Order: sequence, then C-alpha cells, then structure tokens
Amino acid sequence: MAGVSVQAFRRQGRRFGAGLVCSEMVSCAGLNHGNERTLGYLRIADDEHPLAVQIFGSAPGAMAEAARVVEGAGADIVDINFGCPVRKVTKTGAGATLLDDPDRACRLVEAVAEAVDVPVTAKMRRGLENDSRTALAVGPRLVEAGAAALTLHPRSAKQMYTGEADHALTAELVDLVDVPVVASGDITSRTRALEVLESTGCAAVMVARAAQGNPWAVAEIAGVEDRDPTREEVVAELLLFIRESVRELGEQRATGFLKKFYGWYLGRGRFPKPFKQELVQLATIADVETRLLAAAPGARDLLDDLEAEFAVGEEVVLDLPISALGGG
Ligand SMILES: Cc1cc2nc3c(=O)[nH]c(=O)nc-3n(C[C@H](O)[C@H](O)[C@H](O)COP(=O)(O)O)c2cc1C
Repeated sequence: MAGVSVQAFRRQGRRFGAGLVCSEMVSCAGLNHGNERTLGYLRIADDEHPLAVQIFGSAPGAMAEAARVVEGAGADIVDINFGCPVRKVTKTGAGATLLDDPDRACRLVEAVAEAVDVPVTAKMRRGLENDSRTALAVGPRLVEAGAAALTLHPRSAKQMYTGEADHALTAELVDLVDVPVVASGDITSRTRALEVLESTGCAAVMVARAAQGNPWAVAEIAGVEDRDPTREEVVAELLLFIRESVRELGEQRATGFLKKFYGWYLGRGRFPKPFKQELVQLATIADVETRLLAAAPGARDLLDDLEAEFAVGEEVVLDLPISALGGG
C-alpha cells in the first residue's frame, strides 16, 4: 500500500504471521533516475523475506531496467501494478489504465520477466468501469506473457474503494489460468478469508486495509492467534512502529507519515477519541512518545522486549546516486 507499506509495516506483518509481504508501489521512472526517495523504498531487511516489490510504469524497457534494480536490492518477487486508479499514475499510462491496453501490458510483463530471474507477478483491478470483466480477458494474456501469479482486486478503478470486492470474478479468473491467483479486497477476518479461499479456489488472500494499525488482525486471519491486544500492547507496537519509521524515513518525513497511524492504532475503541486528536497536534515525535507512555506506562517494558528481540539485522541499502550526495 502506497504511503503505508514501509519497512516497519512489512516487518510487523511478517512477525504477526503474514506469509508474504509487499512494498509500496515504486515508480520505475524514479528508480531509473536514481531518485533518492524512490531508492529509499528499496530498503530491505533480512527478516522481511519473502518480499515482493511492486513497480509501476508504462514503458517496457524502463520497467525491465527498474526490475533489475529491484532484483539487485533483494526482492524475491517483482510485481507489476495494473490496478492503481489514481490519476497521477493513470495519466502516465501506468496502473489500471493498462488493463485497457493489453498489448502494452503484455509487453511490460514480457520485458520484466526477461530481465530478472525472480518470479514476476501482476496485480489487477477488475477493469476501469463498474461491472467490467476486463481482468478476465487480460489476466490469461499476462500469464502467457510470463506472469507467474496474478492478484485480483475485483473492484473497478472507477469504484476506488466503494462498494464491495466481487470475488465471484476472482473465482472465474481462477478457472481461467493455471498459475496461483491471490484474492485481494475486503479480507478482514479469518472467517472471510476462509470463505473466499473456498468459494474462489484462490491460492492465497491478501490483506491490505485491515492490517493498518492492526497487526492483531493479521494474526487472526493467519490463524496464529485470535485475541484483542491490551492497551499496553497497542502502545508498545505503536511506539516500535514510530521508532522504526523514524529510522527509515528520518524524523521530518516520519512526523507527517505517522499521523494517520495514530487513529488506526488507537481507534477501534481502544482509546478515547480525543487522545488521537491530542497526539496529532503534538509538535515532535518525542512529545508523542512521552504522551503515549503516560497513557500506558506498562508499555515501556513491552517495548524494551520488542526492541531487544526484533532489532533490525542485516539490511540492504542501495548506494545513493551521485545527485543525492549533492551533485544536483
Ligand atoms: C492506502 C492504500 C494504498 C494502496 N496502494 C497500493 C499499491 O501501491 N499497489 C497496489 O497494488 N495496491 C494498492 N492498494 C490496494 C490494496 O492492495 C488492495 O488491493 C485494496 O485495498 C483492497 O484490499 P483491502 O480491502 O484488504 O484493503 C492500496 C490501498 C490502500 C488503501
């Protein structure tokens, strides 16, 4: 998830039972230009594997080049985005618009599959318009072009996140292809995950929004553990997430990035609403930490344990491009 699936989020997901985690979508143009922020998306820690890195773009040669960078950074899978509905992306001919240009979509998959040794996969929406069945026509062609698995989020691009994911379409896609299909959309509980697995025959389910500020949902869905966290556990996980995000993004970027997470962690009836408002208004991360620990003092020991147990180990960080060192 763009703006969400930072390394801290992915490592947390793995720790709570996710079988595979995925990066935010990474711009192939940004990678090829050596954009410092884009390269920052490729910080991969050794306890994240298996990890997919998703790239987006519209030119086969540039995507192939970007895929090589991604493979070099240690990704176990290169995933290609055929689902992003956001105008900033679709106006460049990338993301969901590629569903209406299947020849180009196939050329992208072919070029990327040719360029790397790791499996190449594709993630689609159902199509651009509501009730579209385009993914059923495009999916098998992407497999022919070299996609080793398909993920389907069966909403249209126009729908964005409204309505429901129509997994009857996922079942149809499963019947059409002989590669694993991953179902994405509205997987919020183990019961729903099992229903979708059974009714569609898909190989796996993907969890997106339900995991935001709620790794315990991942544990429940994965069948690891089903229980509500204590307030201390919530605060300890949030504090670890804050510290990891600061390490990854730097304090300035992390300060804005983290605001949405406060509501995600502290909502769900865990803390009174005004508490979140208060945190969002605090000026520094240090103030946020102090306030959180005051609300749940017992979180300090839990945080110490988490930090001791899950310190980041080996990490692949790409060499920074010359421009990032002040070269213009
Ligand atoms: C904030 C946000 C960012 C997302 N970014 C991406 C992305 O970068 N690439 C992608 O393939 N899907 C992205 N998605 C879509 C999700 O992967 C998923 O298909 C969709 O949210 C439906 O699943 P859910 O109901 O479990 O959230 C994003 C979704 C959200 C909410």
